[in-house]
Amino acid sequence: MSRLIQEKKLGSGRIVAVAIENNKTSQYAAKWAVDNLLPKDQSLLLLHVRQKAASIPTPKLQRWKVEEQRKLEEARFAEETALALAEKEKAKCIASMEAAETSQKIAELEAQKRMNAESEQKRKTVDILSHSPARYRKYTIEEIEEATKFFSNSLKIGEGGYGPVYRSELDHTPVAIKVLKPDAAQGRSQFHQEVEVLSCIRHPNMVLLLGACPEFGCLVYEYMANGSLDDCLFRRGNKGALPWQLRFRIAAEIATGLLFLHQTKPEPLVHRDLKPGNILLDRNFVSKISDVGLARLVPPSVADTVTQYRMTSTAGTFCYIDPEYQQTGMLGIKSDIYSLGIMLLQIITAKPPMGLTHHVGRSIEKGTFAEMLDPAVVDWPVEHALHFARLALGCAEMRRKDRPDLGKVVLPELNKLRDFAEDNMPMMMMFGVPTGFTPRSNYNYSHSSISSAQVSHRHSLLVVSPAYIIVINIICFSCRIP
Ligand SMILES: Nc1ncnc2c1ncn2[C@@H]1O[C@H](COP(=O)(O)OP(=O)(O)OP(=O)(O)O)[C@@H](O)[C@H]1O
Ligand SMILES: [Mg+2]
Repeated sequence: MSRLIQEKKLGSGRIVAVAIENNKTSQYAAKWAVDNLLPKDQSLLLLHVRQKAASIPTPKLQRWKVEEQRKLEEARFAEETALALAEKEKAKCIASMEAAETSQKIAELEAQKRMNAESEQKRKTVDILSHSPARYRKYTIEEIEEATKFFSNSLKIGEGGYGPVYRSELDHTPVAIKVLKPDAAQGRSQFHQEVEVLSCIRHPNMVLLLGACPEFGCLVYEYMANGSLDDCLFRRGNKGALPWQLRFRIAAEIATGLLFLHQTKPEPLVHRDLKPGNILLDRNFVSKISDVGLARLVPPSVADTVTQYRMTSTAGTFCYIDPEYQQTGMLGIKSDIYSLGIMLLQIITAKPPMGLTHHVGRSIEKGTFAEMLDPAVVDWPVEHALHFARLALGCAEMRRKDRPDLGKVVLPELNKLRDFAEDNMPMMMMFGVPTGFTPRSNYNYSHSSISSAQVSHRHSLLVVSPAYIIVINIICFSCRIP
């Protein structure tokens, strides 16, 4: 801060000096004093004009000023600290954003790599599958056309939700050819892969998938001479009544096949469509589950449409569908247990499925259960049948969690009942020919006359080829016959 000094000499020789701070107001004040006071001979020795009156320090003001200064310093310090902190945070944020970006890029690269590896693996698998001989017998459409006489109605033995079925002969073997409807046949390579998988899943109580014509969605199955359990229970085509011993045995066979399906690795195979129409009987009345994995061969939309179609349009068939599946759309192995329960009730009553659980339950309560049993059989062991019915009702419980476990409860109980039935089985029946029954097949079988009917039926092994089945059967047969 500079100083302005004005001087004036008075007649008496005295010097008056005005010192002011270099600020405008003070300058004016000094000028006024020099111009106005001195000429009037005012004595002014030293006029030291400061910028403010407060510039004349008092202890209080001094303290206030120090205090203010301190506050100002503090505020400035706080501001500086906050600014520094903000800078630090900003730097941190930028660093973490950069890190996130980098790891996202790495993840994207990894995903891309994985996708490439997967598609390469898929390509290799398809390549291997299409170049290696298929694990199932591949038929050309010409062979299928010839075998079915160009899909002649005279050879048609039925039609279900997925398409018509023809009775025929291929490779000198009686077969049933199912021709999937065009909307059901999905991509050729996927169909091929699914058939590959299904043809590996073999069990004595599952209808054997012999081959396929993947280009036209045709499936070739072993021919089951005694048709479906439905036909047998309702005695279509002049069939005699199934004896109770065979019914108990069939029930245990179905549960054995089903447990095998549910134990498939890596995922259990849920049948989705268990009903007496999908249990087929061979010429020795050995029962096998049919249409295994069919839902996998068609696009999910088609499988759902078939299920919906059954629920809405075919009277009665919706009765086999798990109520919890109907409510939630969630399918599980316990859905099959529900269907099994309804089917078991039909096996002993030969009644339609509608309201069957209710009727059987009521009859047990009223003590009139014996009247529910199929009257075509005259020698029912009522106590055992009642035990059978209670087990079936448990399977058909409305809630999944109330249904018994197939492997731990249902199968062991049905096996006991089968043992009881076999202990009471006439010799003729042991050889698979129930009285009053005529197999519907016109074919002369050229292969071994020993069938799995004579086997102890507790095999749940994965059989790798039909030849293997025959070998097992022969061994068991020779052990059983006295
Ligand atoms: N392998 C087979 N051997 C002998 N007959 C068979 C064979 N497969 C199917 N059939 C007969 O063909 C008919 C139609 O079978 P299909 O499986 O197409 O229909 P479904 O069992 O009535 O209904 P879904 O479509 O639910 O299976 C059945 O009556 C069955 O008896
Ligand atoms: Mg079927």
